[in-house]
Amino acid sequence: MSSSCSKADSNGGEQQEQLVCVTGAGGFIGSWVLKELLLRGYRVRGTARDPADSKNAHLLALEGARERLTLCRADVLDYDSLRAAFRGCHGVLHVASPVSNDPELVPVAVEGTRNVINAAADEGVRRVVFTSSYGAVHMDPNRSPDAVLDETCWSDYEFCKQTDNLYCCAKMMAEITATEQAAARGLPLAVVVPCVTTGPMLQQALNFSSSHVARYLTGAKASYPNAVAAYVDVRDVARAHVLAYERADARGRYLCIGDVLHRAQLVAMLRELFPQYPVTAKCEDDGKPMARPYKFSNQRVRDLGLEFTPLKKSLYEAVVCMQQKGHLPVIHHQQQRSYL
Ligand SMILES: NC(=O)c1ccc[n+]([C@@H]2O[C@H](COP(=O)([O-])OP(=O)(O)OC[C@H]3O[C@@H](n4cnc5c(N)ncnc54)[C@H](OP(=O)(O)O)[C@@H]3O)[C@@H](O)[C@H]2O)c1
Repeated sequence: MSSSCSKADSNGGEQQEQLVCVTGAGGFIGSWVLKELLLRGYRVRGTARDPADSKNAHLLALEGARERLTLCRADVLDYDSLRAAFRGCHGVLHVASPVSNDPELVPVAVEGTRNVINAAADEGVRRVVFTSSYGAVHMDPNRSPDAVLDETCWSDYEFCKQTDNLYCCAKMMAEITATEQAAARGLPLAVVVPCVTTGPMLQQALNFSSSHVARYLTGAKASYPNAVAAYVDVRDVARAHVLAYERADARGRYLCIGDVLHRAQLVAMLRELFPQYPVTAKCEDDGKPMARPYKFSNQRVRDLGLEFTPLKKSLYEAVVCMQQKGHLPVIHHQQQRSYL
């Protein structure tokens, strides 16, 4: 494993395939983006704050990694490390971001994104794809429940702040920064906007959105909130990034949103797939009206050629993967149904 960028730089000129850099390569989404690029024949440079950490070892086992992957040390707050990582790259897929409500990490997401766009522009990168979040789109209590949300919609920043959804504030500000900075630097930018992302993990450690599902299966959640969320498979999110990268005319936002479910529907689906786990059937808000599901348009990303994985398949494979990686106990049940 290389912890600097020198290996890829010395190979770069001799190979025909485009070199593309993925920031946050070892994370849940970053790993699948990197895998998708390798499968499509790209030379890939993945960044991590500590490439030698064993948490990134799975990347080196991916098909094509031995020949076409280099890992590179970069922190989004360290401008020079980003410039070194992007040197010679045709494209940058900026996936890295803290996934956290910690107020101290908001500037990391925002300033980190500004650094990424400027470093990419300074290194002559031709296209950037930025990973936003539907937290930057749907958090608006004044929107009609009948509205169909599309790429023109933004969350209400003050509402996110007042309700302590600082992650949403960070993603909104980071996306605005990416868009403004890319325009100022003349850098073509496409933005993929995923919702709660599920499906199998390539990395060993449990990421935040996978734990969103796991905690219902472990029984850690005694009741579920009267809330609605949107879900998408991680492989669809990865493909959306690469489709947005490959389409030279792709610009602006692409909502990458599969199914919208009330939490009651999510836990019912988990109970149906895995009846042997203690998945709660109790709502925190018993007796109150159910939160209404909102609607999204995913037409723009489907026009890029993306087809969505059924949520049941995605959840099934997420749970089996978490069992295999030791995050969930393996409980056998006579009637466990195999989804596939
Ligand atoms: N999962 C979801 O449900 C979801 C939904 C919508 C949007 N997103 C967005 O998708 C992206 C990836 O999320 P994920 O779910 O894959 O999370 P994850 O598994 O926690 O990965 C986050 C990545 O960000 C990197 N990172 C954090 N702080 C960094 C810093 N200061 N400098 C460089 N890298 C840093 C981490 O790299 P290290 O290895 O260096 O720690 C890690 O690879 C994020 O932008 C997130 O906002 C996720």
